[in-house]
Amino acid sequence: MSSHNTSKIFVVGGTGAQGMPIIRALVADRKNSARVLTRDPFSRRAKSLATLDNVSMLEGSFADEVTLREGFRGCDGAFINIDGFNTGEKTETYWAIRCYEIAIEEGIKFFVYGNLDYGLKKSGYDSRFRSGHYDGKGRIGDWILSQNTVNKGRMGAALFTSGPYIEMAFQPMMPMTPTVEDGIVTWRVPLGDGAVVHASSEDCGYYVRWLFDHPERTNGMNLEVAIEHVAYAGLAAAFTKVTGKPARYIDTDLHSYWNGPLKFIANAPAGYNADPNDKSTMTFRDNFTGFWNLWKYGIVKRDYALLDEIHPKRIKSAEEWMRREDKLGRELGKGGLWERVQPQNIQNETPILKSNEDRRKGRL
Ligand SMILES: NC(=O)c1ccc[n+]([C@@H]2O[C@H](COP(=O)([O-])OP(=O)(O)OC[C@H]3O[C@@H](n4cnc5c(N)ncnc54)[C@H](OP(=O)(O)O)[C@@H]3O)[C@@H](O)[C@H]2O)c1
Repeated sequence: MSSHNTSKIFVVGGTGAQGMPIIRALVADRKNSARVLTRDPFSRRAKSLATLDNVSMLEGSFADEVTLREGFRGCDGAFINIDGFNTGEKTETYWAIRCYEIAIEEGIKFFVYGNLDYGLKKSGYDSRFRSGHYDGKGRIGDWILSQNTVNKGRMGAALFTSGPYIEMAFQPMMPMTPTVEDGIVTWRVPLGDGAVVHASSEDCGYYVRWLFDHPERTNGMNLEVAIEHVAYAGLAAAFTKVTGKPARYIDTDLHSYWNGPLKFIANAPAGYNADPNDKSTMTFRDNFTGFWNLWKYGIVKRDYALLDEIHPKRIKSAEEWMRREDKLGRELGKGGLWERVQPQNIQNETPILKSNEDRRKGRL
């Protein structure tokens, strides 16, 4: 088994919602340096990362073998999160496989793959649960673990399986954006009595650092993380507890949901560079219908005892996340969560997703 302790890590997706806290955690105590791939080293996020000690930027795209080789070469670790909302599922599959193969060839010793649950497989291959941005990763995650049974001595590998960032439940233009109706913060989503396995983007940093720091335990591991299973009646109740303001969850049928605020994007490809005429391309509607069904019918599980062991100070509830965020917002002069979700303010939130910040534009 590879038990190599990495020190120079190539990161794909480093300027993203997930990548930023991961890079901060990797380089925090100068144990590691990070080489970060970006299509634009002059973006707001790339410039802010470049101010950190031990971070360097590499300009280019993951959809380019020459660039990938340059990124991996000279590094001993890799964290790879391929943006399926750029590529679409089919192109993501190809480049994720190539990343793993080139990483081995270029001498990477430990490879961490930014993964999502293989929902289709976990549902027993039931198409109601098809979500391209989940299956596109989860399928590759399975493939990496199977390759790793043979390759683990040459290059260790681990999966980092996260879930929808909880921040998205408080931001505009998201699948779970709240509205304020008659003074009540309202989440209208097709969740039934189910629960979303929300993740804290900040805790992603701790977990990925932990994977790199414990290769003797994590080689071959699929670390599946979450804050908790968040039922939205509970989310609304926690919001009221934290802010003192009214909030509610309204279970919404799929027809009404897709005729709501996301109607304008329902028929667009989920990946902004995916070919709409390619029959493998999923629309937003199809992709996120499967996504909601995953949560509504309880397909995705987590081992919270394991997460408590690995990260005793992890954020353990939506309420805890909201308390922290409410306080942080006030300290930063943005106001508390109640103020921030008001219609005149929510549009001004700094997007957690870089792809939203870039208005779903950019090259492959
Ligand atoms: N939204 C969620 O709740 C969630 C949760 C877990 C996992 N995910 C998955 O994570 C992936 C997106 O990452 P994110 O959540 O961090 O989103 P994000 O904030 O939109 O970040 C996208 C990242 O991908 C990079 N990127 C996009 N196209 C690229 C290309 N051709 N070459 C190199 N880098 C490229 C961007 O870098 P530059 O723009 O600087 O090039 C940026 O770092 C998706 O596959 C998504 O399914 C999403």
